[in-house]
Amino acid sequence: MTTLRSRIIGTGSYLPKKVLTNADLASRVNTSDDWIVKRTGIRQRHVAAEGERTSDLGVAAARAALKAAGVDAAAGEVDLIVVATTTPDETFPATAARIQAMLGMTNGAAFDVQAVCAGFVFALSVADRFITTGGARTVLVIGAETYSNILDWSDRGTCVLFGDGAGAVVLRAEAGTGGADDLGILSTHLRTDGRHHDLLYVDGGVSSTRTTGHLRMRGPDVFRHAVTMLADVAQQALDTNGMAADEVDWLVPHQANLRIIDAAARKLAMPMERVVVTVDRHANTSAASVPLALDEAVRDGRIRPGQVVLMEALGGGFSWGAALARW
Ligand code: UT7
Repeated sequence: MTTLRSRIIGTGSYLPKKVLTNADLASRVNTSDDWIVKRTGIRQRHVAAEGERTSDLGVAAARAALKAAGVDAAAGEVDLIVVATTTPDETFPATAARIQAMLGMTNGAAFDVQAVCAGFVFALSVADRFITTGGARTVLVIGAETYSNILDWSDRGTCVLFGDGAGAVVLRAEAGTGGADDLGILSTHLRTDGRHHDLLYVDGGVSSTRTTGHLRMRGPDVFRHAVTMLADVAQQALDTNGMAADEVDWLVPHQANLRIIDAAARKLAMPMERVVVTVDRHANTSAASVPLALDEAVRDGRIRPGQVVLMEALGGGFSWGAALARW
C-alpha cells in the first residue's frame, strides 16, 4: 500500500554569538562552575544580543535548513511554516508570520505552536500530519527561543540552566509503504498533563498579570517526573513501530540536564555513545534544543541516511512527546 511520509530533507541551526560561561554566572549569583557541571553537565550557554529577537534566530536557522534542502521559500516552494516557541517576538502576530515575511515568502500559511520545551516535537507532529493527510507538500519546522528574556537573573536555581538558540528542519512529502522500513517520520506521540502546572511555569501573561513574567521551577520535582515520562513516551514510539531500542541508531533528547538524558537513556538501555548531547555547550534552549542537536549530528556525519533517530522532549504543562524517524 502506498502512503505519504514526511522526509526530513534539510536541517539548520543558529546560536547567538555571545557566550556566557559558568564563571560569568558565578560573578552574578551565588553559584559555581563545579555545582553547575556536576548537577547539570552545562558548561556554557549562548545569549541573544540586545535587540536580537526570536525571529532573528529562527530565520537564520531556517535559511540554513532551506539551503541544505535545496528549497527556495521566496519562490513559493514552502507550503507551511510551523514555529515552536515560548518566547515570541510579540504577543501577536505569530513569530512564524514574521519569519515568513523575512524569508520573502507570500504563499501558504505560518503559525506558532506553544508546548514549551516539547514544542519542537509538537510542531514536527503537526507538520507531519499536514503532510501525511495531503494538506502540504513542503513544510518548514522551526524551534526558536530567547529564554534570556524570561529568566529571573537573580534566581540561581533557574538562571544557570537555560540558553538562547534556534534549529530548523525542512519536511517533504514522499511515498512510502506504511511500514517501519520507510524513510521519514514513522510516528509521533504527544502527551499533556496540566495538573503539573505549578512545577514549571512563567509567573506572568496577557490575561493574568499583563506582564511577560519570569520562569519558575521546582527543579527536583520536574526531574523526577521527566525521567519516567520521557522513557514512557519513547517506549510508546518504539512499540508502535515494532522496534526495539537496539534498532535505534541515535537518541536525540531534549537537552535540559545531562543527568536526565543519562537516566532516560538508561531506562531505554541506550548506551551514551548513541545519544546526541549538546547541553554542555547550549544549556537548555527549550523548543530549540532537539533541532539544534539534530543539526549538529547531521552536519558532523553521525546521523546518516537510513538510520533510525528517536527524538524526545518534556517541558512546562507538562507537555511531552516523542518522534521516531528513519533518516
Ligand atoms: O526543560 C524543562 C525541564 N526542566 C528540567 O528538566 C530541569 C529539571 N531539574 C533539574 O535539572 C535539577 O533539579 C536542577 C539542576 C534544577 C537542580 O539540581 P538538583 O540536584 O535537583 O538540586 P536541588 O534543586 O535539590 O538543590 C540542591 C542544593 C540546594 O541547596 P541545599 O538546600 O541543599 O542547601 C540548592 O539551593 O543546591 C542548591 N542550588 C545551587 N547551588 C549552587 C540550587 N541551584 C544552585 C546553583 N548553584 N545554581
